[in-house]
Amino acid sequence: MATKLDGKALSEKIRADLKERLHQQSNEKGLPIPFLTTMQVGEDLPSTVYIRAKQRACEEIGFGFRHYKLPEETTMDELCKAVTEVNNDPTVHGLLVQSPLPSHLDEIEVQRMVAPEKDVDCFHPENVGMLYIGRPRFQPCTAGGIIELLLAYGYDPAGKRVVIIGRSVIVGRPLALMMMLKARGGNATVTVCHSRTTDIPAITRQADILVPAVGITEMIKGDWVKEGVIVVDVGINRVPDATKKRGYRLVGDAAFNEIEPKAEAIAPVPGGVGPMTVAILTGNVMRAAGYDVGS
Ligand SMILES: NC(=O)c1ccc[n+]([C@@H]2O[C@H](COP(=O)([O-])OP(=O)(O)OC[C@H]3O[C@@H](n4cnc5c(N)ncnc54)[C@H](OP(=O)(O)O)[C@@H]3O)[C@@H](O)[C@H]2O)c1
Repeated sequence: MATKLDGKALSEKIRADLKERLHQQSNEKGLPIPFLTTMQVGEDLPSTVYIRAKQRACEEIGFGFRHYKLPEETTMDELCKAVTEVNNDPTVHGLLVQSPLPSHLDEIEVQRMVAPEKDVDCFHPENVGMLYIGRPRFQPCTAGGIIELLLAYGYDPAGKRVVIIGRSVIVGRPLALMMMLKARGGNATVTVCHSRTTDIPAITRQADILVPAVGITEMIKGDWVKEGVIVVDVGINRVPDATKKRGYRLVGDAAFNEIEPKAEAIAPVPGGVGPMTVAILTGNVMRAAGYDVGS
């Protein structure tokens, strides 16, 4: 049976370690209590769920947290003003503008407005550039979470053939870059597939480590992978399920039941990458407040 890459358990361990560091360093170095501000424009339901998870994690460690929910019709000027106010507030260390934004707002411009030293999502071009040259200020949250999950279970990407499906700015691209860097968690040989890639199964069958990040329910079938593959499923898809109180269940991009018997290890959905994303975010908030959070 495949090893379950348990992101929920690992994220709890990471949060406990951060809590300890918070206690120690706030006392010994007189550092401030880290404070995260989140902003959401409109009513996107998954965004509300993600922000709640981030708030819970922050409050559990002992951070300050404030959430601004702005109306759907917020203009670029109004959002810019709100971001600037937080940028200029010295008591706030991290600022995260939750995506997706309504279509009338320019997401890239908004990311450029966030002060780079508060950009705990690592989306600002300056921080993306720092990552690119191998001197990251912050870890991209989902990509960092995937790498930490692999390393914690002894699966170092170094020397491995990694196949990532998806090239988004949030997941696929930063992960490809991090896994290719000459650094801890990197040194892999990386192939990135996307919607224009032909014959994806022929490529995924070569993967030692496969990371689907697409958003298509159970797209990766059992015969798309080789024996002994390690699968880190990033996809979060809602499937109607009348047996659940909320009327749906979450499934990944990989057909878990078909792949699990062939895999050496697999990160499930839910409970794999999702909690790790939040854990890396909290580490970034502490880093923004001046704390040493380790590797
Ligand atoms: N667990 C977490 O913390 C976490 C964090 C972020 C996202 N997610 C989940 O991960 C999934 C991807 O998120 P995202 O933000 O990266 O999504 P996205 O921006 O929509 O990107 C999806 C990527 O998949 C590619 N793609 C679409 N259809 C494809 C196909 N048939 N074959 C191959 N590639 C295809 C797209 O290719 P093109 O570039 O050619 O369009 C794109 O690069 C979603 O389910 C999301 O909910 C999870």
